[in-house]
This record gives sequence, structure tokens and C-alpha cells, in this order.
Amino acid sequence: MTSNWTPDSWKQFPASQQPLYPDPVELRHALQQLLKFPPLVTSWEIDHLKSGIAAAQQGDAWLLQGGDCAETFDECQTEQIASKLKLLLQMSLVIVFASRKRIVRVGRIAGQYAKPRSSHIETQDGLSLPSYRGDIVNRFEFSDEARRPDPHRMLRGYERSALTLNFIRALSEGGFADLHHPENWNLLFVNEARGEVARRYKELVRSLGDALRFMETILEGSTVSELKRVDFFTSHEALLLDYETALTRPSVRGIGYYNMGTHLPWIGERTRDPKGAHVEYFRGIRNPIAVKVGPTIQSEELLDLIRILNPENEPGRLTLIHRMGRRHIENQLPGLIETVARSGARVLWVCDPMHGNTVSTTSGRKTRRFDDIVDELRLSFAIHHAFGSALGGAHLELTGENVTECTGGSRGLTDSDLESAYQTQVDPRLNYEQALEIAFEIAGKLTESRA
Ligand code: PEP
Ligand code: CO
Repeated sequence: MTSNWTPDSWKQFPASQQPLYPDPVELRHALQQLLKFPPLVTSWEIDHLKSGIAAAQQGDAWLLQGGDCAETFDECQTEQIASKLKLLLQMSLVIVFASRKRIVRVGRIAGQYAKPRSSHIETQDGLSLPSYRGDIVNRFEFSDEARRPDPHRMLRGYERSALTLNFIRALSEGGFADLHHPENWNLLFVNEARGEVARRYKELVRSLGDALRFMETILEGSTVSELKRVDFFTSHEALLLDYETALTRPSVRGIGYYNMGTHLPWIGERTRDPKGAHVEYFRGIRNPIAVKVGPTIQSEELLDLIRILNPENEPGRLTLIHRMGRRHIENQLPGLIETVARSGARVLWVCDPMHGNTVSTTSGRKTRRFDDIVDELRLSFAIHHAFGSALGGAHLELTGENVTECTGGSRGLTDSDLESAYQTQVDPRLNYEQALEIAFEIAGKLTESRA
């Protein structure tokens, strides 16, 4: 067991990005209830994901992680959940077809409710209120009552996560996920669409007969019936430490504590201080974990994180998600790759081409340009290759809805098109076509590296 660690030893360390709950008694009551609720996932599932990530570290699998920047309680609805799953299944089909590697599918889903903010306070027209920190903390509406951090929202968040997860489990186990029937994954609005990407995807599905044959060859010993279900894992930024602690439970096998609220918790760019509370919390849980690394990280800091978070160099334990931005990646990534290689640390390198590429339009909308996203992804593949490393996955903000939040892509969305279906309250997401285009891009790169 990890020394001097308990599920709440993080309380001895500075915890950034936590809400200031006005009523400690209310907070205690909410947490007492949460502690009694059953876990959302099991230690066996978590270990299974860890072995998938270990395989990706060996180059035998690829990690596809995607979903909303922030889920909302209102959008815990059939279509929204199913569309996200359909899109991730379509994307993994495109990637597996080209890479012939196992795809480890992880949603930013069933618990992605807490958001880091640049300030505790937001001011509008002279009125200052607490910032919106995600639905698990407070409400988006700009009013005194809505913005008050409410600990009972943790219970609502747990329930929404359970509802979402229940639906995901049913879909991934049953006929829905059957690779022999990818028509189940068609999105309603895409059937009428005549877009180039949708056409390419349909063509790919038509040649699925071949795909099934080779998949049955590469997934050694598997039978057709094993292709009737998929593994689908959950992840979220484990930001709200009170919530995460309440879902941290000892395994019945006596092998330590797991965060049983999600399979793959990650540490965000703003909370990865090696001396901070988040790193202390993560150090003691047995889940596979990920850390976002942005352009300001120094080699020493990265080595500290690796040493604290994976002292035994355990396979599958640590994923590093670089999110440098198109402008910084060529300068920043090579040094980090060399640092990690020299240390002998086992990590999975994943590219998040979204969070370093957020810009504002002249009308003040937050957006991301598709070309920046694709460029960062392409450069990631190239830089890893040049430095004797390998990119093992992608982390994306996307939705199965027909939104207009990122510009560019095969339809050439412009700044002024953003108004037509801009729905996110936080970061701009790839829409269906843009996400599928990224999947084809990844597939192309993985095919090149096979050649
Ligand atoms: C996010 O993933 O939504 C996020 C806030 O990312 P980062 O921590 O990389 O800024
Ligand atoms: Co985001």
C-alpha cells in the first residue's frame, strides 16, 4: 500500500479549483450520503482498462478518448448519450480498419461534470458572483441562487453518472454494438447528408466483410460472437476532490483503493502541481490515470510527477496527454519525449489537439480551427516518430450532435456559421463530420506507420 496515503490525505495539501461551499453541515450531509452509495464501476473493469493501456504502451492498441468538454445534467438524455456512443464506435471502426490494432475506447462521459475556471468570481454588469464550475457544483445561469455552490448537486451528479453508465453498459453488451451491424450506429441527421466524410464512412462500412475477416485474424482466437459487444470505458477530470474521495473504495480483493466513480480519472493542466492536493490524491488510487501536460511544464516537474504517480513503473498506470497547441508543440514536445525516454519511465503518450488551440472570434465566441487541430495531431505523430517514440492515442472534445462550434472541416464552417448551432457552455467541440474526419486522419497516419 502507498505509504502515508489515505483517501483524504490530500486535505493536508493545497487544493486548487475547489468550490467554496457556504454551509459545512450541508456539505457533510451530502458526502455522508454519497459514501453509502454503491460504486459505479468495479476494480476488475478498472484493471481490465489498465491492461488495455499497457497494450497501447507496447504499440498493440490505440486509445481513443472523447466526449463533451462538460456534460450537463439536462443533457442526460437518450439521444445525446447514444449519439456520442455511435460516433465513438464509428471512429473506432475507421481507426481499427486502418491500424489493425485493438482500440481502447474511453468516453469523457458519465461523470465529466466539474470544470476548472480561471477565476473564483465572474463579474457581469457590475455584479460579481461565483464562477460556474460545472453542473456538479452550481448552475450556469447568472444569478445569486444558481451560482451558489450546492453540495447536493454531487448526489445529482452521481445519479446522472449512474443513469448514463447503465445505458452505456446496456448498449455495449447487446446487439447495438455488434460489429456485424454498424448500421445501428448511423446518426439520424447523417442519413440525409451527402457530405464527403459521410460518404467515405459508408464506403468503409460496405467493405466491412473484409474487415471482419481480418479482425477475426488479429484478435487471436476470437470468434464472430465476441465481436457482438465492445468494451467502453468512462473517464473524467477528477477535479472535485470531495466527490472523488467519497467514491474511492477499498477493493474487495484487498489490493488497495480504487476510484470507483470512473475507470480513468485524469489530472487537468491546472491542477497538476506535484506538491498539490490532486497529485496527492491520485498517487494512492490504483486506477490507470492520465495527466494533461501543457506548454509550460518543465522537464523536472514532469519527472517529479512520474516519480510520485508511478514509482514502480507499472505498465498501464500512467498516460500523458499533451495539449500544447499548434504554436508550441514543435518547441515543447521533443524535450519532454527525450526526458521521459532518458528516465526509462513507461508512459502512454496521447495527443489532445483541442485545449491548446482555443481562440476567440471577433464576436467573442470561443472556437477552435479545424486546421490547427489536424496540424497539431499530424505534428504529434511526426515528432514522436522522429524522437523514437510513438503516439498511442487521441483525446478529443466531440459530440454526436450537429453543432457548429469549431470552424473549418470538410464543410468549411466559418466564424459566422458558428451562430447557427453553438451549444456548448464551455469549450467548443468537434461535430460529427469533423470528428469522423479526424478519425480518417488518424487512420491515415497509422496506416503509414504500418507500411
Ligand atoms: C478539459 O479537458 O476540458 C480541460 C479543462 O483541459 P486542460 O486541463 O488540458 O486545460
Ligand atoms: Co475542455
